Amino acid sequence: MITSNELREKWLSFYKGKGHTDIGAVSLIGDGSTGVMFNVAGMQPLMPYLLGKTHPEGKRLCNVQGCVRTVDIDAVGDASHFTFFEMMGNWSLGDYFKKEKTAWTFELLTTVFGLEKDKLCATVFEGNSAVPRDGETAAYLEKLGIKKEHIFFMPKSDNWWELEGTVGTPCGPDNEWFYPLDPEKKNPVFPDDYVEIGNDVYMQYKKTETGYTALENKNVDTGFGFDRMLLFLNGLSDGYMTDLFLPVIEELEKLSGKKYADGGEDRKAMRIIADHTRTAVMLIGDEQGVLPSNTGAGYILRRLMRRAIRYCRQIGVESSAMLNAAKIFIGIYGGAYPLLREKQDYILSEIKKEADRFEATLAQGIREFEKCTQSIARKNEFMLRSNPDYVKETVIGGKQAFRLYDTYGFPLELTEELAGEQGLTVDKEGFETAFSEHREKSRVLDKGQFKGGLESHSVNATRYHTATHLLNAALKIVLSPEVQQKGSNINEERLRFDFNFSRKLTDEEVRRVEDLVNEQIKADVKVVMREMTLEEARAQNFVGVFSDKYGETVKTYSIGAFSKEICGGPHVESTGELGTFKIAKQENVSAGIKRIKAVLQ
Ligand code: ALA
Repeated sequence: MITSNELREKWLSFYKGKGHTDIGAVSLIGDGSTGVMFNVAGMQPLMPYLLGKTHPEGKRLCNVQGCVRTVDIDAVGDASHFTFFEMMGNWSLGDYFKKEKTAWTFELLTTVFGLEKDKLCATVFEGNSAVPRDGETAAYLEKLGIKKEHIFFMPKSDNWWELEGTVGTPCGPDNEWFYPLDPEKKNPVFPDDYVEIGNDVYMQYKKTETGYTALENKNVDTGFGFDRMLLFLNGLSDGYMTDLFLPVIEELEKLSGKKYADGGEDRKAMRIIADHTRTAVMLIGDEQGVLPSNTGAGYILRRLMRRAIRYCRQIGVESSAMLNAAKIFIGIYGGAYPLLREKQDYILSEIKKEADRFEATLAQGIREFEKCTQSIARKNEFMLRSNPDYVKETVIGGKQAFRLYDTYGFPLELTEELAGEQGLTVDKEGFETAFSEHREKSRVLDKGQFKGGLESHSVNATRYHTATHLLNAALKIVLSPEVQQKGSNINEERLRFDFNFSRKLTDEEVRRVEDLVNEQIKADVKVVMREMTLEEARAQNFVGVFSDKYGETVKTYSIGAFSKEICGGPHVESTGELGTFKIAKQENVSAGIKRIKAVLQ
């Protein structure tokens, strides 16, 4: 047995012994220079240095770097796909090259990790019209004692490493290392019976628009998958059975009463919950702290978390199971990533918040989704009855997918996944169209109606202004946390409030909103104003819609824990001054935008 912490330590101390400096891990978030959102390889943050810049820590570097890859998100659930993983790396920046590198990898594998040299296999680049065959590496490998018949020359598709889809980045041929999956197996056949354990890339080219140019420096970029190596060195074949995951799987078993070893859908669900929670912990706890949102890295995080929450339901546990899992992960990774321990409370509270937000509408959203699929099924059945040649409808409309997104917080991919389980697809283009139409409408609303938000500062208008905050909060509770103010207008007699929601409120919903607001009024809650920076306000979950108009500091208004808004005011001192709140009228502004007129009596 080798534990994760021992493996980390062995890797780093081996390379430190060869004159390398441990540069530690950097943020998981890419610096934007390549257009890649997350670090997908240990070399990514080192790109400028591989291209020739002088690194402050010298020419020999090593670390264990966290990476996030989301291309295979749908494959998570099997034994070996993860969205977060770590890569053990070491680099030569124009210092040593093939001779030393082959010798050190060989030494590490055979002496430190105890692999048998006769069982090792290696592949090297066979060459093409642009870059010569790597006979040099092959010769070194053979000299070290790797059997000649275990060294394979392979084409660019196998033995060339570059960051796909980028230009101006370093790249080069690589030497990959393999070991039998089952070391006891007699006469294993390459490659079927082998696993790749890592690779040494000879980064000596730069990608251009049309091909490759030679770099001034000949660099080495080594990457060995940490999770994979841990698995392999422990003779395991299921990535969730290493000490990085096992305690979390055991916790999920305990909470759900299901057995991981039984396999099937429950095991898949446990893997997805575990994997996605780990990535969520790492992203929220990252030095650049990602939070769930609807764009960029935040959207990926939201997608992962909401997918995990859905799978929590599948094994019959509350989404709070993610909190238990997150705590365990912080324990497991807290030594290597001390920031996680510092940020523990924050990480847990952000996970809880997102879970609460989504749980509030998940069941409703699933019902809505089922309505879509049922109506497709009914239509198919009906059409087939009159026309046996009718081609069945198998696509969920873009507008419906957008409604699930906008009203119930379903990431598009979640709808696609649910659809896929029933042999259906989603009209993605239609979704995008609905999305941009919606954005355009909101933009127009933002411009036109926000201006007139506050027409006078009379006593009545002040009362209505505070009532608007209460209404905003109540709508979020009764309808959906995704409800947002899209405009408002106040005069002496009434308030008018526009928000994103797709249908008229039912009488029951109207009554609940009124009750919630009147409850706050009856309780005579003090309205508290505090000035703070926009960042602080955001961190404390104050909602606001005028984001680009705010200055350095903003005024925040809290009405107990019920309402927290960034706002220019003015407001009453205490909600008791408001009287009785009543919704007078509902109107349609446009598709997806509803209007409420309300009065204080
Ligand atoms: N950059 C190489 C990899 O990611 C080492 O595998």
